[in-house]
Amino acid sequence: MANRYRTHNCSEAGRHIGRGISVAGWVNRRRDHGGLIFIDLRDRSGLLQVVFNPQVAAEAHRIATEMRPEYVVRITGEVARRPAGTENPGIPTGEVELIAREAEILNASRPMPFPMSDESGIDESVRLKYRYLDLRRPQMQQNMMLRHRVIKFIRDFLDARGFIEIETPILLKSTPEGARDYLVPSRLYPGKFYALPQSPQQLKQLLMVSGFEKYYQIARCFRDEDQRADRQPEFTQLDLEMSFVDEENVLDLMEELFTSLMAELKPEIRIVKPFPRLSYHEVIERFGTDKPDLRFGLELADVSDIVEDSEFGVFRTAIAGGGIVKGFAAPGCADYSRKQQAELVEFARARGGKGLVTMAIEGGQGGSLDDLTLDKVHSAVTRFFTIDQVREMVKRLHAGPGDLLLFAADKAEVVNTVLSQLRLEMANRLGLTDPNLMVFAFIQDHPLMEWNQEGNRWDSMHHPFTAPYDEDIPLLDTDPGRVRARHYDFVCNGYELSSGSIRIHDSRIQEKIFSLLSYSDEEIRERFGHLLEALEFGAPPHGGIAPGIDRLVMLLAGEDNIREVIAFPKTKSATDLMTNAPDAVSEDQLRELHLRLRAH
Ligand code: AMO
Ligand code: AMP
Repeated sequence: MANRYRTHNCSEAGRHIGRGISVAGWVNRRRDHGGLIFIDLRDRSGLLQVVFNPQVAAEAHRIATEMRPEYVVRITGEVARRPAGTENPGIPTGEVELIAREAEILNASRPMPFPMSDESGIDESVRLKYRYLDLRRPQMQQNMMLRHRVIKFIRDFLDARGFIEIETPILLKSTPEGARDYLVPSRLYPGKFYALPQSPQQLKQLLMVSGFEKYYQIARCFRDEDQRADRQPEFTQLDLEMSFVDEENVLDLMEELFTSLMAELKPEIRIVKPFPRLSYHEVIERFGTDKPDLRFGLELADVSDIVEDSEFGVFRTAIAGGGIVKGFAAPGCADYSRKQQAELVEFARARGGKGLVTMAIEGGQGGSLDDLTLDKVHSAVTRFFTIDQVREMVKRLHAGPGDLLLFAADKAEVVNTVLSQLRLEMANRLGLTDPNLMVFAFIQDHPLMEWNQEGNRWDSMHHPFTAPYDEDIPLLDTDPGRVRARHYDFVCNGYELSSGSIRIHDSRIQEKIFSLLSYSDEEIRERFGHLLEALEFGAPPHGGIAPGIDRLVMLLAGEDNIREVIAFPKTKSATDLMTNAPDAVSEDQLRELHLRLRAH
């Protein structure tokens, strides 16, 4: 059926030179040039210049004088080639313009709270308050379009491989993923609550017991936790589960999915194939974090054995106290000024370090180590080391003359936290974080559990449904901290994109893990009874994974905050500035839900 508002989109105008068309959209910009009025009309497809000439159409020209930015208008006219010299190569329709014959204002607009065209410097709280306007901006339109295409690609890919999408409930019982639950009070059952799922984890496992074999879902998850640039209280996962699989089957599927997704949607971004596979211990050792950015080197190295007998008290004391000394070399940074080095020390302190040793090795890059003498080693602490010790340290860090060595000493955890962040900082400063490279990698062999000092108990590293390696099962009784999980993380450019695992499908082992995690028998029955029971009814071996869609789209869009790829995100403090949620509710609603607010 004909559309009464328009015959074409703005971007199609170029193909209709000499013909009459109607377009509808928003006034992006208006310029009055004496007699002529120019309007850049914007619709979802792009911009089109419209010319109003009083000699051609007096009434349309009069209407154009009333048009203001963001007015919604409909224009009918003829597409013409622009006069020579006035083309605009900056937009796809830059060769043509629409000579208006008729115009209609469909709706007016108040002045905008921020300019539509200016990309920078708009306060984010204003953008979030007027999110529906912010989403009009071309950048946001592109981000949403990309998100749509990513999800569509995933659905087609999995459909072609026999996966079926099954929706699981939002009103549910608590499923632990390590965060706090969002709770929904029940009106019908006083004092009882639903929990919004932190993930569909248990349900997807139950679907394997049901025999679906290959399930996926674009699933919304809810977690009440501290927000960060890559976290939201509600976010979207590609949740996926398969029966009769081992690690390799899941990882192969992921590699194929992500390789083909990149080729289709972001062919200009390079990836590394096959995706590297690294062990948890190896990445902690080499990069100080379990989500390393593998686009560049700057690898960390442990120098504890070299410096434990040095004269430098800070290092000796740290090692004697069970700590370590690690460092890395920033190539070509030996000429950092005193002030620049002090900044790095401050950077380390701000991230929990007690300090940072900087050591500049004088000389041009590529010079020989044999010529190195202590007078070429510039550091506040050079005097505490022998030349042999320094040479060993330089060698261990694969460094040389011209480099700046950076060392931290402390408990391993602190050293790794500080140096992994400093490594990223130096990579940024050195321009090593190539935006056109995405290095996907799998990290495996995490410990199944970690000791929680405060709680005096074992916690799951991920969730309690992860299977241990068969050969490590005896260690559950003797040394739980050494049990390796059949877990895999999928990381990219310093972000954790997904995690997943082969699951426990034996109810006895599942029960044992729950009790090791200090759940009482009653808690186990109450919280996980359904799952334990299900595992007793012919549960197949199964495993899965759950890539975070928001983080993935953020990386593909080249954004550094997931709010940029979510239509209506929450702020860092978990509020919605547009609707003002969370908000108070009426006394009546509270009463219906059997709730009374406590005075603080
Ligand atoms: P996990 O808790 O690691 O695993 O979550 C999987 C992926 O979801 C994304 N993600 C988030 N994204 C935005 N905001 C958040 N608050 C947030 N939390 C997590 C990350 C993360 O890698 N049930 C398991 C998966 C499984 O075992 O199959 C799970 O949810 O990209
Ligand atoms: P101090 O003895 O505290 O004055 O520190 C001497 C030097 O060692 C200073 O350059 C500190 O930044 C550095 N330093 C102190 N503690 C540490 C540490 N834990 N790791 C690395 N460097 C440190």
